[in-house]
Amino acid sequence: MPRMISRKSVLLFAVASFAVIAFACGGGDDEPAATSTSPPNPTATTVQATATSSALTGDAARGEGLFVSETCAGCHSTGDNTIVGPGLKGVRARAAALGGDAYLTESITDRNAVIVDGFNPIMSDFSFLDDQTVADLVAYLNTLN
Ligand code: HEC
Repeated sequence: MPRMISRKSVLLFAVASFAVIAFACGGGDDEPAATSTSPPNPTATTVQATATSSALTGDAARGEGLFVSETCAGCHSTGDNTIVGPGLKGVRARAAALGGDAYLTESITDRNAVIVDGFNPIMSDFSFLDDQTVADLVAYLNTLN
């Protein structure tokens, strides 16, 4: 089963990269650093900003236009058929088991976080899209049934 093998190696790679990153970030003797002195404030602000942006309401009608203008439609059909990436008909139902909107958002902003079984990791990088654009695209994807 070559598909299983390639998926496994992608997962192993992901796990390995994560371990390396975690090690690099946490390297050295763990000091229980983040005490409540001055530096923690920026962190708190960042966390809050992220929480706010993920609560954006997507505009599905705008998302439909973006799906074409951002070139998604060049690789994804809105039916069952594969162009380059998977057809996105019913993706909402598939996403539900994987985290729903969070999964769809991640699929766009962090293209290699999850690789759909049977596909190659060749989706273009869309990490530059602003939060509202991504929310609109996700709202549109949720209408594809
Ligand atoms: C160059 C081709 C290409 C472009 C352009 C592209 N994608 Fe993809 N996309 C893929 C491929 C290939 C996969 C499957 C592999 C993977 O998971 O990364 C995928 C996976 C996905 C998935 C996960 C689907 C599932 O069934 O879980 C979503 C959602 C998605 N793309 C949305 C988008 C959106 C929205 C855009 C436009 C902003 C876009 N893609 C642009 C190739 C592309």
